[in-house]
Amino acid sequence: MIQNDLFLRTLRGETVERPPVWMMRQAGRYLPEFRALRDQYDFFTRCRTPELVAEITIQPVDIVQVDAAILFSDILVVPQAMGIDIEMKENIGPFIAHPIRNTQDVERVQIPDVSHALGYVMEGIHLTKERLNNRVPLIGFAGAPWTILSYIVEGKGSKNFDIAKAFCFSQPELADQLLQKITDTTILYLKEKVKAGVDAIQLFDSWGGVLSPEDYSTFSWKYSRQIVEALSPLVPTIVFAKGCSFALEQMSQSSVAALGIDWTCQPSLARTLTQGKKVLQGNLDPAWLLASPEQITEKTHQMIRSFGKDLYIANLGHGILPNVPVENARAFVNAVKTFVE
Ligand code: CP3
Repeated sequence: MIQNDLFLRTLRGETVERPPVWMMRQAGRYLPEFRALRDQYDFFTRCRTPELVAEITIQPVDIVQVDAAILFSDILVVPQAMGIDIEMKENIGPFIAHPIRNTQDVERVQIPDVSHALGYVMEGIHLTKERLNNRVPLIGFAGAPWTILSYIVEGKGSKNFDIAKAFCFSQPELADQLLQKITDTTILYLKEKVKAGVDAIQLFDSWGGVLSPEDYSTFSWKYSRQIVEALSPLVPTIVFAKGCSFALEQMSQSSVAALGIDWTCQPSLARTLTQGKKVLQGNLDPAWLLASPEQITEKTHQMIRSFGKDLYIANLGHGILPNVPVENARAFVNAVKTFVE
């Protein structure tokens, strides 16, 4: 059905002619076509308008020719739907005037009717699928419960997330209530997304790496795992837990289809820790896309050789940076497409 199904065949563990390639945060940021829209509409308006969602999602498919599209949206639409007021501030990022800090705050957090509260996302998926016209698969995503908790407890981005950690360490039962509410909502949300037509799911645990291995198990993986087990029977799931190579072995013992790797972990170590049984995705340092196209090509070929061509999805080790020239993003994608063993 899907014309270029390399990404889905790889996730199913099939042998492929070359690895598929896409880039985390490919929808937006570095594309001039996106910045033109950004100047016209504020962030959450873009997320809530199916026409804009479809347009922004498909831009990197047309412009840099990636093998998969990722829906334009944000991980923070979930806590928004749970009743938390979130703004996206220019040059600051997410901002929450009343962060979640105590029992009353947690009680106020609702598990919403997602088909209603997040219906606009589903409309965005329908329109995007229609416009993609089966060219490439569409990835749906959500934040891992720990990463969502980090933002809503902290109130904004942070270097170390110590307020979020202190909340969890000093009130573990309350933290569990909050994390479980986020988990339950996320499962409902992702199941709706699958019904609406996404072909795979990625969980972003951008801040998993601020936790110790033990705390990662307790406050993050315990919940992400529930989401993986609930969704994996429906579509292939990918978990990207940044800075969490210490947890690769534990994560590989779940039904997750693929694990995202950041650039601080050697491909060979990631293969060993996952016993060669999972698809791995990653892991070029996004800052390499600021080097020359020749250097990018060489680094990318080297990366594919290190991971091996099979059970592998070429990607960056985190989101593409806003100041990357489009031709460099193209050089990365083309390097994967022209790879020969
Ligand atoms: O991958 C994609 O391109 C799809 C779209 C997408 C966005 N956010 C759009 C966005 C995805 C997958 C996300 C995920 C997301 N959002 C994460 C996890 C991935 C990661 O980068 O670690 C996180 C932590 C967020 C929260 C968030 N949203 C922050 C911290 C910010 C501000 C800083 C930034 O990244 O620019 C956002 C805003 C945001 N989300 C923008 C975009 C295109 C930029 C704001 C704008 O366009 O006005």
